[in-house]
Amino acid sequence: MLLAFDDNGPGPVIVLLHGFPLGRWMWHAQVADLGGVYRLLTPDLRGHGETAAPEGIYTIDEMADDVIEWLDSLQITEPVVLGGLSMGGYVALSLVVRYPNRFRALMLMDTKAWADSVDAAANRLRLAQGVEESGDASAVIQGMIPRLFSSLTREQRPDVIGQAAEKMMRTNPRAVAGALRGMAERPDRTAVLGRITLPTLVLVGEDDIITPLVEAQAIAADIPGSTLVIIPHAGHMAPMENPAAVNRAIREFLNRLA
Ligand code: MLT
Repeated sequence: MLLAFDDNGPGPVIVLLHGFPLGRWMWHAQVADLGGVYRLLTPDLRGHGETAAPEGIYTIDEMADDVIEWLDSLQITEPVVLGGLSMGGYVALSLVVRYPNRFRALMLMDTKAWADSVDAAANRLRLAQGVEESGDASAVIQGMIPRLFSSLTREQRPDVIGQAAEKMMRTNPRAVAGALRGMAERPDRTAVLGRITLPTLVLVGEDDIITPLVEAQAIAADIPGSTLVIIPHAGHMAPMENPAAVNRAIREFLNRLA
């Protein structure tokens, strides 16, 4: 599948995968800061942003295969640094487990390795069905928005939330349903964390209520030698809410790789 993407900067390649139902726009502050030193490649995953939204279930492995096809199309065969937020983190885990030779470091942001509980998966399927029947994803997206951001961001940065909400609301309902169904059936990857040998940064907003600190701590405990960074004054959307702290953590991590 053809992925829309931005390609910014010189130097070693970093691929950043956005969450649900977001797009490559969420990495704006990382591109602005790190794009002078690194080549930041930010795709829109299947159905999101400007990438086409086919019918069907968007499995995490299929979204990962899209990323490999896209890297191949760019003739990027050397191992790259891979980062992903939330759903992008699920895709990143699928990639490093299934294509270990394509990556040289991993950044897992506000994400988890567990599968959905039975209740959480059932809830996603119910939401997906509602979106498919109505052809309208606005209620699902509106329901997510307050949970994505910390209370501080909600009080002090309504502009950040307003801009994100406006872009999220443009997500094709087919993609919302397809990704909900794909996330509901994603495999549990906790058992493979111990086999990840890549240098790994685990990053989480201190007020993330979607993928909370304990989940990041558990991932960091399981991936040998990984580094956990807690981002203050941020929720699930840490790269947008506190970009200075996120960019500092990424820079320090990348400097240690050099
Ligand atoms: C995301 O930010 O990608 C989603 O909240 C992930 C999820 O719903 O599991």
